Amino acid sequence: MAFDEEKLDELLSSFVTDLGGSFHAINAVIGDRLGLYRSLLAVMPATPAEVAAEAGVGERYAREWLSGQAAGGYVTYDPGTERFFLTEEQAFALAAPEGMQIAAAFHMPIAVGKNVDRIIDAFRTNTGFGWHEHDPGLFEGTERFFRQGYVANLVSSWIPALDGVEAKLAAGARVADVGCGHGASTLLLAESYPMSKITGFDYHDRSIDLARKRAADAGLASRLSFELAAAADFPGTDYDLVTVFDALHDMPDPLGAARHIRQSLKPDGTFLLVEPYARDNVEDNLNPVGRHYYTASTVICVAHSMTEEPRTALGAQAGQARLAELLRDAGFTRIRRAAETPFNLILEARP
Ligand SMILES: C[S@@+](CC[C@H](N)C(=O)[O-])C[C@H]1O[C@@H](n2cnc3c(N)ncnc32)[C@H](O)[C@@H]1O
Repeated sequence: MAFDEEKLDELLSSFVTDLGGSFHAINAVIGDRLGLYRSLLAVMPATPAEVAAEAGVGERYAREWLSGQAAGGYVTYDPGTERFFLTEEQAFALAAPEGMQIAAAFHMPIAVGKNVDRIIDAFRTNTGFGWHEHDPGLFEGTERFFRQGYVANLVSSWIPALDGVEAKLAAGARVADVGCGHGASTLLLAESYPMSKITGFDYHDRSIDLARKRAADAGLASRLSFELAAAADFPGTDYDLVTVFDALHDMPDPLGAARHIRQSLKPDGTFLLVEPYARDNVEDNLNPVGRHYYTASTVICVAHSMTEEPRTALGAQAGQARLAELLRDAGFTRIRRAAETPFNLILEARP
């Protein structure tokens, strides 16, 4: 075989970017925990000493951290004044309290990495590694990362894209949010549709405890409740709307879950299924978004789905065709893509 130096250089260039990126993940979590992005925003343009004083950390650490952030494009450096600052875009993505807080997403890989030896064992023995077995950083990172997408899209575009659902929610509907985690989507629904009665279900006890606390803190406990229940057997048979956000593909038995959801709906009810954006063929998902989802799915979603029979392991890149087939098998007849974002597929399924 001919050895192509140029192709090797391309591969090594990606490798250096990724190696730096993997250490960036650790630095981003440190920045998030210590408020380094916020401190820079508060005192910029700033020397490392000023950022360190604002954040209450050592100056030498702050200098190295800031330089690494600048090398990755997360922070900007002005060599003329030897000061660091955030552009408008960097401030919005990283530091503003109402901004995107993208550094929080890096809690996910860092948390998963804490159990890498156990996940290696699961590969070897072809067994599972459950969601509940992960370090809590995964639950926090998931909540904070996904919430941004829900805040930006759920009420403004996904719900209005469903047939007749917005009016029902406004008038007062019964809603189940299944696999709700810390309840980011559930809380948003309860805040936006005060006449509706919303229940979040998840099999993970610590997530339900935290979701209940969030509901109490938000003063929503009277019309929003969180219950410990798996997707295949949550209670209730008269829901107007059942939602599943980024959780169906994680489940060991997504078909059983979808069948149960079908049975829990009123005859004119709606199932809102939000899944990671994916196309139907592997070759069409070989891009940065697909890469993120495939690599996370390997160690989180597939690993969880392998914990119990039938171990369907749809994976985070199942795609609409596979999901629609499963929904049809579960008894849904009217299935369509209601909306999409670069990260999400939004499917509407009706009995
Ligand atoms: C990636 S998280 C998404 C959480 C939440 N929906 C969100 O968007 O922030 C997947 C969730 O599915 C839950 N889950 C997994 N298998 C489940 C099952 N069989 N029944 C109910 N919940 C399940 C997990 O506990 C976890 O909270």
